[in-house]
Amino acid sequence: MDPKGRTYLVTGANIGIGRVTAEKLAARGGRVFLACRSEDKARPVIDGIRAAGGFAEFLPISLDDLGSVRACAKLFLERDEPLHVLINNAGLAGQRGLTKDGFELAFGVNHVGPFLLTQLLLPKLEGEKDARIVNVASKSHYRAKTIDWDAVRRPTANLTALPEYEASKLANVLFTKELSRRLGGKVRAFSLHPGVVATNIWSGAVPWGIRHAIKLFMKTEEQGAETTLHCATSSDVKDGAYYDDCKERRPSRAADDEALAKELWRRSEAWVAA
Ligand SMILES: NC(=O)c1ccc[n+]([C@@H]2O[C@H](COP(=O)([O-])OP(=O)(O)OC[C@H]3O[C@@H](n4cnc5c(N)ncnc54)[C@H](OP(=O)(O)O)[C@@H]3O)[C@@H](O)[C@H]2O)c1
Repeated sequence: MDPKGRTYLVTGANIGIGRVTAEKLAARGGRVFLACRSEDKARPVIDGIRAAGGFAEFLPISLDDLGSVRACAKLFLERDEPLHVLINNAGLAGQRGLTKDGFELAFGVNHVGPFLLTQLLLPKLEGEKDARIVNVASKSHYRAKTIDWDAVRRPTANLTALPEYEASKLANVLFTKELSRRLGGKVRAFSLHPGVVATNIWSGAVPWGIRHAIKLFMKTEEQGAETTLHCATSSDVKDGAYYDDCKERRPSRAADDEALAKELWRRSEAWVAA
């Protein structure tokens, strides 16, 4: 659907894939809210969009703090603004720790925060024509066989933090599928792999020299935003599906496990209600 006049909220839009996503939507006439954790870092992107005649506004959000997620949703809900597409793009990899609310860092930032943001913004999406939720997952989800419910409530155990990242990305695909089942087409939900993209996300996980060398084989940020933009705007998309290179792909067997998706939903609801 033509972005002209439609409203998009993109998390992590100050840099990387999220930045390009926000800029391209605004260039096509979309009204874009950039939900980021630093206004200073988002400012150049917002100024650039406005200088080109587009609409862009900043919303503060720290996805490692559920209080901040609630405050961000409240700020947006208080505005007289519809919401047509929520793009849960922000994420981290290769970092270790615990969120403010006691979740393993990758799981908390990549799944629990976006889960709550989505719940809080759903009333705005429902009732809008062709409303969508786009969750930026990863093909890393294929490596996660399940979700360890105890591990997601402890600090990151693995030195590389990659198994934790993979589990968080499996959660993104499971969440998308369960959202789609529950919403029954009223709001459509999509998950995707953006490709292996030369962004900052790998700075904690891959040493500088190797990163520099493999960047040559990675997608550019512009190419990395293409599948997100496809899911956010194309008429050729299937509710609940997982996309890679702008095409529907079969996700992992674990991601297709409806019982696991329901269990994740049930637990996520309880976590964010606490
Ligand atoms: N790049 C790839 O190869 C690749 C592959 C598969 C999937 N992905 C997914 O693509 C998405 C975008 O990643 P990217 O590659 O564009 O990475 P990026 O350039 O590092 O951007 C990540 C964005 O997420 C934000 N973020 C991180 N932690 C946050 C927090 N606690 N609260 C709020 N925002 C937070 C960052 O904010 P700051 O700038 O303030 O840190 C930044 O805006 C992620 O979900 C990632 O998992 C990327």
